[in-house]
Amino acid sequence: MLENKMGYPILPSPFASFNGVAASIARLIITFARVVTGEFNPLKHGFGAANTSVAQFGGKILALAEYDLPYAVKLTPDGDIITLGRHDFRSCEPFLTMTAHPKVDWDTGEAFAYRHGVVRPFLTFFRINSDGRKQKDVKIFSMDRFSAIHDFAVTKNYAIFPNTQIVLNPLWILRGRSPLGVDRSKVPRFGIIPRFAEDEREMWWIDAPGLNMLHCVNSWEEDGGERIVIVASNIVSIEQVFENIDLSQLRLEKIVIDVKAKTMERYPLSDKVLDLGVINPAYAMKKNRYVYAAVIGVKAVVGVVKLDMSLTTKDGGDLKVASRLYGSGCGGGEPLFVPREPSNPAAEEDDGYLLTFVYDENTDESKFVVMDAKSPSLDIIAAVKLPRRVPNGFHGLFVSKRELEKL
Ligand SMILES: [Fe+2]
Repeated sequence: MLENKMGYPILPSPFASFNGVAASIARLIITFARVVTGEFNPLKHGFGAANTSVAQFGGKILALAEYDLPYAVKLTPDGDIITLGRHDFRSCEPFLTMTAHPKVDWDTGEAFAYRHGVVRPFLTFFRINSDGRKQKDVKIFSMDRFSAIHDFAVTKNYAIFPNTQIVLNPLWILRGRSPLGVDRSKVPRFGIIPRFAEDEREMWWIDAPGLNMLHCVNSWEEDGGERIVIVASNIVSIEQVFENIDLSQLRLEKIVIDVKAKTMERYPLSDKVLDLGVINPAYAMKKNRYVYAAVIGVKAVVGVVKLDMSLTTKDGGDLKVASRLYGSGCGGGEPLFVPREPSNPAAEEDDGYLLTFVYDENTDESKFVVMDAKSPSLDIIAAVKLPRRVPNGFHGLFVSKRELEKL
């Protein structure tokens, strides 16, 4: 919001806007001056980005970013989105930021989320009750340094955090680099904590060499809770993640953690570069079969695939049972699965629609596209030309008219 008003970047950004010591100091001075004059108060008003994801829980639709409170938004009767303001879930303790991928247990209405910071504790976990009230922080001091954690996994009994090789080193600013970078000498780990824990006493960590999880697609428990299964994307070429995300070789994996033996097994789900995986939302935190994922091409999502996880083998293999490429010059967004009969418990898992936005650079037009998720070529059954271009984005949310009317 602030940068939009000014027309140029003001705030030092860990991803892009560090260009050496002089530029960083200049930005800090300008930011400090704006804080002193009262024009900019991030503690009170936040940063206003809210550009990473959208979630619905606690009776709100929330726009989220990585380092801010969620912003509650509302749809007006004529289709506009208005911002209601930052939302702190009526927290009983200071609460200033959370990340953009909270997890909702639709059976209980509870949500689980976290924040990561540059000072101890580097990770803080918390839950939001079904009445929309945030519960006390669980500070994770066994996280011994900052690690960028974009997403995590939650099952009926556990929360699982990736501790990645993406770290913070302020000295890198002196070299004109972002303070966020990759430490190849660090072994990635996964931290497992009971999801209702009040402190970190029962948390344990497991090494996960070569596993830098980016997005969790789904996670559940098997064998009475003795095994945790996580379907997630892994950044294989981690050193490329800040330079060329399309070269970072994102791959989907099924990760199985043996809770008693404290061991991990991994199963590749595709040899293609895939991310932004989604499922039928009725299966969140439950064992599911189908994953729909974006095919990542050069600087764009070039298509979508449907994977059948019942075909998983230790050695990989082709789990693809349907796919669609958007065509030359066309880039899509995150796919979303919408069940055809959401209130029919007997409906098949893949009986529904895949939605996405597709931008065609040949015509400079965007379309809202609806695909049949059961068809082998993900047939387009509706395409709506939009009045203006929709830029490629990160994440989205489908909210039915009935749910919207309840909010
Ligand atoms: Fe994300």
